[in-house]
Amino acid sequence: MQAASQHPIHDVEFQRRCRDELEAHGVLVLREFFSDEVIQRAAIESAALEADAFYSNAVHNVYLTEADPEFADDHPFNRPVVSNKGLIADDLIAADSPLREIYEDQSFRSFLGFVLGLESLHPYPDKLSTIVISVANEGMALGWHFDTSASSVTMLLQAPEGGGVFEYVPDIRDADVGDMAFDEVERVLDEKVPVRRLDFSPGDLVVFRGRNALHRVTPVVGTTTRSIAIFAFNERPDARMSEEALRTFFGRAK
Ligand SMILES: [Fe+2]
Repeated sequence: MQAASQHPIHDVEFQRRCRDELEAHGVLVLREFFSDEVIQRAAIESAALEADAFYSNAVHNVYLTEADPEFADDHPFNRPVVSNKGLIADDLIAADSPLREIYEDQSFRSFLGFVLGLESLHPYPDKLSTIVISVANEGMALGWHFDTSASSVTMLLQAPEGGGVFEYVPDIRDADVGDMAFDEVERVLDEKVPVRRLDFSPGDLVVFRGRNALHRVTPVVGTTTRSIAIFAFNERPDARMSEEALRTFFGRAK
């Protein structure tokens, strides 16, 4: 993998800066991290696989859980948001895909391990979830939500003509102590607080801490598909997706 030279990922001082930035802001964007060749090849592969994506249209709450009748219908816990997207599963991605080279690259891994503070990085044991391409056509969007995993590692492959903007409100809660941040969530859903917009381009490496930051992707505008590669790195080798989650994401469990 050719990481661009302006990102000395072997350099300890650089690694520390990246880790501190992620810690301070909940997000790390390294511009032009991947080469044009990698972006191009991955974007072509993504376009060819788009027809095989599993498209879903989900109504969910921001916590990605079932509604709770203990709360009123308009309580932040039960406020419905809509997400629609297509997911291209790992087993559809070619063995010689540049995305696999990136995933397997040892220097990239040790850099990420340091930045994320993880002792070791493991793929999912299933054949679907480790490298995934998420695609969105005109009108598709991800509603406000918190991620269930601590961090995501992504690379945009293709930007749409308009929309598809990543918006977020950082550090809204501390999930580790069970904080639900109902008041703040309500203010975001009611559009009463300013939200940040994360600008990134194809080829940028984006690491985002999504468990405590509320975030969404606005509807795609125009006929160009928004396409983004998502790399899953788990600290524990036994981390796995439930069969139900696999069916929800990919329409199949294997
Ligand atoms: Fe997310």
